[in-house]
Amino acid sequence: MFDQALTQTKQGTVVIIDDNPNIRESIKMILEEEYSLRFFESGITALEHIRNAQPDLVISDISMPQMNGIDVLRHIKEIDKSIQVIMLTGYASVESARASVRYGAYDYIVKPYDTEKLIEIVKSGIKYRKQLMDDQDNIDKIRKLNKEMEREMMKSRKLAYSGQLSAGIIHEVSNPLSAIEGYLHIIQKKIKDKALIEGEELDFLKKYIAITHNQLRRSIRIIRNHLDFLKISNEESLIDINENLEEIITLLKYQNITLNIEIKSEYGSIPKLRGNPDHFQQIFMNMLYNAIHAIEKRGIIIVRTEVVTEEKGLSFISISFIDSGHGIPKDKLEHIFEPFYSTKGKGKGTGLGMAISYEIIKKYGGDIIIKSTAGKGTKISLLIPLQ
Ligand SMILES: Nc1ncnc2c1ncn2[C@@H]1O[C@H](COP(=O)(O)OP(=O)(O)OP(=O)(O)O)[C@@H](O)[C@H]1O
Ligand SMILES: [Mg+2]
Repeated sequence: MFDQALTQTKQGTVVIIDDNPNIRESIKMILEEEYSLRFFESGITALEHIRNAQPDLVISDISMPQMNGIDVLRHIKEIDKSIQVIMLTGYASVESARASVRYGAYDYIVKPYDTEKLIEIVKSGIKYRKQLMDDQDNIDKIRKLNKEMEREMMKSRKLAYSGQLSAGIIHEVSNPLSAIEGYLHIIQKKIKDKALIEGEELDFLKKYIAITHNQLRRSIRIIRNHLDFLKISNEESLIDINENLEEIITLLKYQNITLNIEIKSEYGSIPKLRGNPDHFQQIFMNMLYNAIHAIEKRGIIIVRTEVVTEEKGLSFISISFIDSGHGIPKDKLEHIFEPFYSTKGKGKGTGLGMAISYEIIKKYGGDIIIKSTAGKGTKISLLIPLQ
């Protein structure tokens, strides 16, 4: 207890490495009042202690048997750049001492040294280390804040988009429906009073009917996607998520699109979830199809389930889809939850998958977290709070 109280009032921790007992003794007398000290005869034993204890400062002789001071310095800088090192040198090795400063030593002292100078260099070396530690602390704090802000922005974006979903659906189907109405009007006019249609006129009609058909198909797809989502069946049950995923993955494995894709499942032990199985089926399908579409030739998709506990102590079931696909560039990431945002080309994706998935997950009080690196892959995690 007493020792600990004593250490706390000291100005810092210093390790001294010198094979000469007289030097160790004299440094002890000079510094022991202000600093907590540890002495070593060789670099090798000292390094083990430095790795564990991370002292503020090390004073090391340059010429020692086994490991010389420059090597000791190199190892310390690998352990932690912020630990300051002062080299002790005789006149014979002043050149190496100068060189050591280029390798990152804080300063050097020539023996026989002046006590005042030693005290001054140690003091300023420790001050410098504390400054570095404070800077690192601040950088860490700013990084954390930045991350939190990014998360908050993504959250508000997701919420804003989710409000647009229904309005978006109406807008999106009202365009093709108006087009269909217009084309049907033209077709009707063309065939009015006609008993026989052939040649150019027939080609014209065929073309217009094909366009109408396409527009109608698109509207139906959008509405079906949305209706699936709105389907608020009362069919709530206890869902075994792992089983649910396995069924879908087995189904996908029988399809040609996954021939060059390895789907690997890492199921953790997670509790059953109360909810609507259709909801989860729909989300899992969308996540897996997105991952499959992101893989151009060969690749892997890992499906992982686990229970994770947040810093604040809240626990979630986490369902992650990790793919080795083309990833999502940073400027596109912010649009992912936007209804009708799709990069899949005309007629290929409706761009509703993520928007609807988020809407569903929100119903369960959860969230969707995306981490992606363009060219490397994407990890999408669904987090659902444990009830
Ligand atoms: N795992 C992923 N890897 C790369 N890009 C992705 C991934 N998941 C989603 N995306 C991007 O997000 C966009 C929106 O996805 P979303 O599921 O909402 O729509 P979609 O897949 O394009 O269309 P739909 O789901 O209706 O077929 C995709 O077009 C794609 O650009
Ligand atoms: Mg999709």
